[in-house]
Amino acid sequence: MRDGKDPDMTTEFTTRITDAVVDSLDGTADPRLRELLASLTRHLHAFVRETEPTMAEWEKAVDFLTTTGQTCTDTRQEFVLLSDVLGVSMLVETINSDRDGGATESTVLGPFHMTESPARVLGADIDLAGGGEPCVVSGRVLSRDGTPLPGAVLDVWQANAEGFYDVQQPDVQPPGNGRGLFTADAEGRFWFRTCVPSPYPIPTDGPVGDLLRATGREPYRPAHIHFIASAPGHVPVTTHIFVAGSDHLDSDAVFAVKESLVQDFADTDDPALAREFGIPNPFRHARFDLVLTPERT
Ligand SMILES: [Fe+2]
Repeated sequence: MRDGKDPDMTTEFTTRITDAVVDSLDGTADPRLRELLASLTRHLHAFVRETEPTMAEWEKAVDFLTTTGQTCTDTRQEFVLLSDVLGVSMLVETINSDRDGGATESTVLGPFHMTESPARVLGADIDLAGGGEPCVVSGRVLSRDGTPLPGAVLDVWQANAEGFYDVQQPDVQPPGNGRGLFTADAEGRFWFRTCVPSPYPIPTDGPVGDLLRATGREPYRPAHIHFIASAPGHVPVTTHIFVAGSDHLDSDAVFAVKESLVQDFADTDDPALAREFGIPNPFRHARFDLVLTPERT
C-alpha cells in the first residue's frame, strides 16, 4: 500500500469502482459482449490493484499501446505481434482448436498474413526470386476419418531464404513472393515448390522490439511455412510446419511450436521424382498430410 493512505478506505473504494464499472455494462444488448467486458474490467482492475502502477508507469503503458497502434500499417500488424510475444495468440488458437484430437494441430496466424495469397496451380514455385535451397512440399488434405478432401484450399505463406516476408521488403522481393493459394486435386493432394525457409527475427524496430530488449528476450522464430487449410464442411485450420533441425525450435519468440508440426525436409535423391516435380535433383522434400475436423451439424 502506498504512503499516506488509509488501506481500508482505499480497498473499499477500489472494489466499489470495479462494481460500478461492471454494473454500468448491464445495458449491453449483446450478452457475450457484456460478459467479455465485465471480465476484462475485473481482471484489469485486479491487475492494477495488485501492481499499483505509478502515474508515470500508467502513462508509459498508454504510450506503449499508442505507439503499438501507430506502428500498424497495411503491411505491418504490431498488435498481432504483441499478442504473439505475450503468448495470447497461442492461447486463443489453442482454446479454439480441435479438442478431440486427430486433426492437424493449429498454431498462430502471425503478423504477416497481411496480403491475399495469389492463386497458383499445383506444382508452382512460390520462391519467385530464387536463390534459396529448392524444395518440394507435398501431401494430402484429409478428413479425420482419412477421406481425401478434393478441392480443399491451402493458403501458404513463408519468409524467403534470408528470413524476410515479401511485405517487409517491397523494394527487394516481388509482391506475392513466398505466397500461394492452392487447390487440392481430385484425390486431395497438393504439391508445390519453394525454398527451404530460414529462422528469422520478428521485427524489432517497433514497440514490441523495445519490450523484447527490456526483458532480455530473443526475437527469433524457427524456420517454418504457414498454412491455412480449408474445405467444405470442415473446420479450417491455421497452422505452420516447422523445419526439423531448425535453430530456435525450443525458443520460439511467439511460443508457437508444437511437436506434431515439426517435419523433415528430407534430402531426396530421386531423379524420376525430381522430373515429376520439375526440380533439379537432388532436392529437399517435406511430405505431410493436413487433417481437418468435420463441422458439427
Ligand atoms: Fe512466419
